[in-house]
Amino acid sequence: MSAPQFLQIYHHDADHVAQELLQGLMAPQALTSPKYLYDSLGSRLFEAITELPEYDLTRTEARVMQQHCADMASHLPADACWIDLGAGNCEKASHLLGPMAARRYVAVDISVDFVRAALEGLQRQHPGLAMMGLGTDFSGGLHLPADLKLDPTQPRVLFYPGSSIGNFTPDQAVGFLRSLHTACGTARHSGLLIGVDLVKDVAELEAAYDDALGVTAAFNLNLLLHINRLVGSNFAVRDWRHLSRFNAERSRVEMHLQARQALRVQWPGGERLFEAGETIHTENACKWALPGFDALLREAGFTATRAWTDPATRFAVFWASA
Ligand code: AVJ
Repeated sequence: MSAPQFLQIYHHDADHVAQELLQGLMAPQALTSPKYLYDSLGSRLFEAITELPEYDLTRTEARVMQQHCADMASHLPADACWIDLGAGNCEKASHLLGPMAARRYVAVDISVDFVRAALEGLQRQHPGLAMMGLGTDFSGGLHLPADLKLDPTQPRVLFYPGSSIGNFTPDQAVGFLRSLHTACGTARHSGLLIGVDLVKDVAELEAAYDDALGVTAAFNLNLLLHINRLVGSNFAVRDWRHLSRFNAERSRVEMHLQARQALRVQWPGGERLFEAGETIHTENACKWALPGFDALLREAGFTATRAWTDPATRFAVFWASA
């Protein structure tokens, strides 16, 4: 049995992170990158979100993959190298590697420590599958380091589930998807398998991001505690309110944190005054229609596309040939 190999590229640079965060916090409309929602507690809260009755995205995606697995296998290359973007516990890919006859599996996340245990477990289930963990920050685009020594003649399946693409505005998404198209390499039959949440009833969309138990509110507010640790600021969670609203013109759910009253937030070397009602924009979750997402994939360089959905067309899994 082979053992997983690990390669850590990303190195946390505290000054750079603080600088990026403070730049966003000082902008006229304060904003932060959604990646900061996922500290250790934030990651657990997100897992809890996926079990909420109002948030059916994760469950619906799993059902689409399960129901259309055989048809997907007929469109995707066998003996491929699967590259799982944001692999985490590798749960989603674990159901596909066997049925899709994968030959190699590369779990990509910000830190190989997040994928280490899962990859070692998966290796025991698939003793013949070559496995690697890659620690890199691909939020600005994916770059596969030469040190991975991927076979240029082996087809690649880039796997990007969970509608994480929704975090990007359409402009940002084209640039990001272009980097994935490039990462597909030059072997024939390579492509991108990507999960996309679709536009639906506004009340349902807003409830999915403002659940009755308040788990999403906790997930959003926890960002303030993470920021306090990263920049040494003095955000007080009780001064802020979770807001989620569907922006129809831009077809996205926006999450904000809203100041309950006029506030002064300080950090070493700076401060910002927030008026009562002023917000920090913390996340976009873009919701696509099937034709719009197909056009986006083509704009990014992909050629043929194929989409599978649930019967109610709430969620789509696209296969886009490079
Ligand atoms: C992991 C980015 C797909 O936008 O639905 C869930 C994150 N934010 N509830 C999403 C999230 C609030 C989620 N993504």
